[in-house]
Amino acid sequence: MCGIVAYIGPKDATPFLLEGLARLEYRGYDSAGVAVAGRTGGIKVRKVKGRVADLAAAVPARFKGSTGIGHTRWATHGVPSDANAHPHLDNAERIAVVHNGIIENADELRAKLAADGAVFRSETDTEVLGHLIAAHAAEGVELEEAVRAALGKVVGTYGIAVLDAEQPDRIVVARNGSPIVLGIGEKEMFVASDVSALVRYTRQVVHLEDGELATVRADGFRTFTEDARTTHRQPSTVDWEIDSYDTGGYEHFLLKEIHEQPGSVERTLGGRLDERFATPPRRGRNQDAPPLREIRRVKILGCGSAYYAGEMGAQLIEELARIPAHSEPASEFRYRNPVIEADTLYIAVSQSGETYDTLAAVQEVKRKGGRVLGVVNTVGSAIARECDGGIYLHAGPEISVASTKAFTSTVVAFALIALHFGRIHDLSPADGRRIVSALKALPDQIREVLAQSDAIAGLAAEYAGSEGMMFIGRVRGYPVAREGAQKLKEISYVHAEAYPASELKHGPLALISPELPTVALVPDDELLDKNLTTLGEIKARSGRVLAVAHRRPEAKLADHCILVPKSEPELDPLLLNIPLQLLAYHAAVALGRDVDKPRNLAKSVTVE
Ligand code: AGP
Repeated sequence: MCGIVAYIGPKDATPFLLEGLARLEYRGYDSAGVAVAGRTGGIKVRKVKGRVADLAAAVPARFKGSTGIGHTRWATHGVPSDANAHPHLDNAERIAVVHNGIIENADELRAKLAADGAVFRSETDTEVLGHLIAAHAAEGVELEEAVRAALGKVVGTYGIAVLDAEQPDRIVVARNGSPIVLGIGEKEMFVASDVSALVRYTRQVVHLEDGELATVRADGFRTFTEDARTTHRQPSTVDWEIDSYDTGGYEHFLLKEIHEQPGSVERTLGGRLDERFATPPRRGRNQDAPPLREIRRVKILGCGSAYYAGEMGAQLIEELARIPAHSEPASEFRYRNPVIEADTLYIAVSQSGETYDTLAAVQEVKRKGGRVLGVVNTVGSAIARECDGGIYLHAGPEISVASTKAFTSTVVAFALIALHFGRIHDLSPADGRRIVSALKALPDQIREVLAQSDAIAGLAAEYAGSEGMMFIGRVRGYPVAREGAQKLKEISYVHAEAYPASELKHGPLALISPELPTVALVPDDELLDKNLTTLGEIKARSGRVLAVAHRRPEAKLADHCILVPKSEPELDPLLLNIPLQLLAYHAAVALGRDVDKPRNLAKSVTVE
């Protein structure tokens, strides 16, 4: 949830550290800090509560060093404060540490270290790492040995970068559950918890595996395991465009990413439609027809919006392939001793590929002998590497905390999976062609919805002041309602509740009043009449209705309507969701929220 950067090379580390932290601020943003091994010896540290801009203002011009580490924090242990900000030092101020993750046995270690004389200056779990590494370093061993020995005593998750005033020719990093990426430059090396901090400097990266450490020097790196075995890692090339990391003239990353969806959908579909057989082409690991024909069930695992995208995916798979499919929050699945079946295909969904709950769910399935495919956006991420095969979304980097283009691309990827399964079972060529041409039409149809952004801004301003909002949809519309409610509450902080339209009369109808408007998904499908009846029930109780529909309902049934182009019924949810992204965005702007960095949230949740 936090961000790590580090630099070692001939240049001054501070400019890279500050710029890298600014790029990672979407991952954590309640405090920030940097440490450099000064040219005159010793470690200099600056850390502040607040944003990276506050840190930059606090760093003096003379704050220079060619080896440095930095951190932007999202508090887990202790309130946001200068003292709790990273880096953390040992008492001799020899060792500086930045850390993402949670040290579970921090209290126990803290008590032992304090008994040995360590004086703690923060409430964080991270500070124990500084004292622990310093205690081993004081025995005269190399920094990597001291870090390895210290981590041997730690229970929990971590991505760390460690600086030693007495060995400033190296930085030691380690990963266990929280990402660390090495960036390879010309006689200089970079480290970050996310490639977005690196792409301006290098495209050659190495993603550390869980349980792996690295000694990083200006002229290269060496990777090794916790039991000191050397590992051999080949760099990979990051192919995301540098422009993706700028707002590109938009007011917010979120608006930019919403507007990027025609292009990101095209990339998700790119080269994946075989028109002759009306199916995705046969390629990719573990996607051959014979083993897939044995599959009797599909279980989809993801968190938050990835879980809701999985719900849409499950419906697509059931409808097109007639295979029972179900989506479950990975965060629940991993704790409930799930039954793993040989003829079930497990599909893990994650934009970041680093969500700890989803990673743990994948590991649980694999530990019990199950097979997992990944639907992941971030190439080389932990979940992508852990899965047996899968589909990359190619949606491009998603910076805003709220997922939009990755959500849409995930549903498109599920449509491809469902089509593939369908066509190796009983989906007819005609139905296959129907879906293929509907998929190809999506980018232009998304553009049509995006063209209504100003009109939706007007509606958002009208509804944003409500005490809460109800989102309803029936069958295919229900996951759309869930995702729409999630987006609204996440970035505007307006309370939003999603319900199946069919369930309204079983309880929540009691909530309906002019103060609690309803966003109703009203596709022109076989359930249209049922949905219109529900609208009548809401209006009869003085409820206000904003319909998202293919045809404008009668004025007596809806106060406002956003019209969406019609796709094939199975793909309608995808387009019905786009106006809800704009509604949430414009409501958040109308309420003056920090759209890209909503309170209490971070982009990738790498803690339990
Ligand atoms: C989406 O808007 C949310 N920020 C959140 O629910 C997110 O989808 C979830 O944390 C999963 O993230 P992932 O896709 O990176 O695994």
